[in-house]
Amino acid sequence: MAASTSTQTSNRTQVGIVGAGPAGLFLAHLLRRQGIDCVVLESRSRAEIEDTIRAGVLEQWVVDLMNQMGLGDRMMREGHFHSGITLRFNGESHHIDMAGLTGGKRVTVYAQHEVIRDLVAALLEDGGEILFGVSDVQLHGVESDRPSIAFRRSPDGPLEALRCDWIAGCDGFHGPSRQAIPKAVRNEFQVVYPFGWLGILTEAPPSHPELIYANHERGFALLSTRSPEVQRLYIQCDPKDDIANWSDDRIWSELHARLEDRDGWTLTEGRIFQKGIIAMRSFVCEPMRHGRLFLAGDAAHIVPPTGAKGLNLAVADVLVLSRALDAFYKSGRTDGLEAYSAVCLRRIWKAERFSWYMTTMLHRNPAETPFEQRVHLADLDYVVSSRAAMTALAENYVGLPMD
Ligand code: FAD
Ligand code: DHB
Repeated sequence: MAASTSTQTSNRTQVGIVGAGPAGLFLAHLLRRQGIDCVVLESRSRAEIEDTIRAGVLEQWVVDLMNQMGLGDRMMREGHFHSGITLRFNGESHHIDMAGLTGGKRVTVYAQHEVIRDLVAALLEDGGEILFGVSDVQLHGVESDRPSIAFRRSPDGPLEALRCDWIAGCDGFHGPSRQAIPKAVRNEFQVVYPFGWLGILTEAPPSHPELIYANHERGFALLSTRSPEVQRLYIQCDPKDDIANWSDDRIWSELHARLEDRDGWTLTEGRIFQKGIIAMRSFVCEPMRHGRLFLAGDAAHIVPPTGAKGLNLAVADVLVLSRALDAFYKSGRTDGLEAYSAVCLRRIWKAERFSWYMTTMLHRNPAETPFEQRVHLADLDYVVSSRAAMTALAENYVGLPMD
C-alpha cells in the first residue's frame, strides 16, 4: 500500500462512497436512513455535478422511492408525467399507451441534474458528508477486511486515507473503482455503436405532449422536454463528429426532416443554448463485487440511452446494496452481500437487452445490410400492431418490478 506511507490525515466511516452521481447520492441517502455512516468523495465541484446535462426519464418505482424518502417535492411540482410515448417511422405516428398496458404505470421526465440538486441539498442539510473536488482517489485493501480510500482534498493538499468497512464504487464508467478489480477475475462484455447522439436544449414551448422516438432514413431523432419553456432533442450522428460542424440551421433542418410526419405535425424552433455529442456503448462488468468493494451504476454497466434506463439502473443497484448492508449491520447477515452481484446482474442484463433492442430497432446503422434495416422496420410495425409486443415494450420502458 504505497500511498499509506505519505498519508497525513486519517478518517473513518462504515461505507466509503466514490462518486456523487445518482448511484452515490441515492446510496448515501438510503444508508443514512438505516443509521449507517458514510462519506461521499467526488472529484468534481458541486456546481459541475449540478450543471451536467444528462438523463431525463425516471421509472415509476424511482419516483415512488424518491417520494417515500421525502425527496420528491420539487419533482412532483416540476416533473412531467407521461403515460405514453409516440413511435414514428415511415412518416406515421403510433401512440404506445404505457399506462393502459402496464396497469397505470407512467414515466416522469425530470432532468438528472435536478435530481442531483435535490439529493445534494437534502444530504447536506441532513448533516451528510460529501467531499467535492477531491483528487488522486485510489482504492486500497479491497481484498482485506480493512479497505481504505486514499485521496487529496485539494490538488496540492496532503494524501489522506478514509478507512471503511466497505467501499461503494459509484464513480461512473471512467472512475478508478472498476480497475481495482483484478483483470484476472473481471469479465467485461461490450458493444460500441457506430453512431452517437447530438443533444440540444432549446428555449421553445413543447411541440408534442409526449416523447417521440423516430426512425427515419436520415437517422434516429428523439423529442423530449424539460419544462414549458425548455425542450430537449437528440439526433443520431457520427460519434466522432465535431459539434462545430453542426450549425443551429443544420440541427433544425435535420430535426424537421426526421421528426415530421404525414399528418402535418410540426416542430417549434427556439434558441439553442446547449449542444453536445455523446458516443454510445453497451457494457457490463461481472462480477460487481470484489472483496469489500461493490460497484454500482455506470461504474459496472453502461446502456445506450435509447431505452432511458441508465439512471434507473444505478438506483436499482444501490437499493439492493443498501438492503444488504442494512441486514449486515442489523444482524450480521452476509447473504445479501454475497448475492449482490447476481441479484443486480439479473436486472441489468434485462435492461441491457431492452436498451440494445430499442437502439438497434430505432437507429440507422451504416454497417448494417438493407436486409437488417428492413427487419428493424418490420419489428417496429409488429410492435405497433400487436398488443403483446406493445405490452412487452411498455413493461420494460416504465421499468420492470424491483422485487
Ligand atoms: P455518474 O452519473 O457518471 O456519476 C459518477 C460520479 O463519479 C461523477 O459525478 C464523477 O465526477 C465521479 N467520479 C468519477 N471519477 C471519480 C474519482 N476518481 N473520484 C471521485 N469521484 C469520481 N439514464 C436514464 O435512466 N434515463 C435517461 O433518459 C438517460 N438519458 C441519458 C442521456 C444522455 C445524453 C446521457 C449521457 C446519459 C443518459 N442516461 C440516462 C444515463 C445516465 O445519465 C447514467 O446512467 C447515470 O448518470 C449513471 O449514474 P452513476 O451515478 O452510476 O454515474
Ligand atoms: C431523454 C433521454 C433519453 O435517453 C430517452 O430515452 C428519453 C429522454 C431525455 O434526456 O429527456
